[in-house]
Amino acid sequence: MIEIRGLAKSYGDHQALHDVSLSIRPGEFVVVLGPSGAGKSTLLRCINRLIEPTAGDILVDGTSLSSNRRDLRLLRRNVAMIFQQHNLVKRLSVLKNVLVGRMADLSPILSSLQLFPEADVKIAMHCLEQVAMSHKARNRADALSGGEQQRVGIARALAQQPKFMLADEPVASLDPKTSRTVLNYLKKSCKESNIAVLCNLHQIDYALEFAERVVGLSAGRVVYDGAPAGVSGDVIRSIYPGLDDPNVLDAAQRLTERRRAAAEAEIALAATSVATTSVEGRA
Ligand SMILES: Nc1ncnc2c1ncn2[C@@H]1O[C@H](COP(=O)(O)OP(=O)(O)O)[C@@H](O)[C@H]1O
Ligand SMILES: [Mg+2]
Repeated sequence: MIEIRGLAKSYGDHQALHDVSLSIRPGEFVVVLGPSGAGKSTLLRCINRLIEPTAGDILVDGTSLSSNRRDLRLLRRNVAMIFQQHNLVKRLSVLKNVLVGRMADLSPILSSLQLFPEADVKIAMHCLEQVAMSHKARNRADALSGGEQQRVGIARALAQQPKFMLADEPVASLDPKTSRTVLNYLKKSCKESNIAVLCNLHQIDYALEFAERVVGLSAGRVVYDGAPAGVSGDVIRSIYPGLDDPNVLDAAQRLTERRRAAAEAEIALAATSVATTSVEGRA
C-alpha cells in the first residue's frame, strides 16, 4: 500500500499543491487528470523527491520515506519513474538501457564496467517481453520509433521491480494510436507485476479509457477521486474550470456518446444471449 499524506508544495509564494492525500493499492492503475498547470508534475516530483515537498509524507507499506539518505535509497528502489521524453541513452542497446533499471542493485564497479549478472539480464529480457520489445533487445535505442522507445522506458522502469510507478504524461509526444498502445502496455505490465501506477494525463478520453480510478486535480487540489464512471459533466467542469475550451467540450461530448454506445452494445448483447438461451431451451 502506498500512502500520500498531506502533501503540499509552494514555489516561493505560489502554492502549487494543497494538502493532497491518497492511498493506492498494489496493482491499482490511477490516472491523475488535470489541465496544464494543475500541479500534476509537482505531485509526482514530490513523491519521488526530485523536488522537496513543503509538507507531507509518503509511506510505502507503512514505512515513511522521509528525506534522509538511507530512506532515499529505499525510495529509489521502490518508486520508478517514466517521463514524457523516455530519457533513453541513444547509443546504447535496448537491453543495456533496460539493465540501467537494475543498477541500483549492482556494485558500482560492475555497473561502471557494464558487466551485468546473468540474473539481471534475465529480468531485463522478461521486462522487454512484457512490452513486446524483446525482439529488438540488441538494437540501438535511437533506431526505434517514439512509441517503441517509450515501451523500452516502461521496461526499464519495470526492471527496477518497483512497488510504485510514476508516469508523467508518458504519451504526450505520441500520436493517438501509439498513445493507446503504450498506455495498454503500461497498464497490462504493471497489472502482471502488481505495481501501483500513478499516471498523469491531461487527455480526458485516455483517462476514462484506461483508469481504474481517476484523481482530478485542479489548481493543486484534488477535486475528484473515484471511478471513471463517476466522471460526469460537473466533475469535468470542476477539473477544467475553463470549460469554454472546445477540447474539453468535445471530450465531454464524446464521453456521453461512448457511454450511450456502450450501454446500447450491452443491451444488444443481453438481447442476443436471451435469444440464444431461449433457442437452446427449445432445442
Ligand atoms: N520550478 C517552479 N518554480 C515556480 N513555479 C513552478 C515551478 N514548477 C511548476 N511551477 C508552477 O506550479 C504550478 C503547477 O505546475 P506543474 O506541476 O508543472 O503542473 P502540470 O504538470 O499539471 O502542468 C504551475 O502554476 C506552475 O507554473
Ligand atoms: Mg506536467
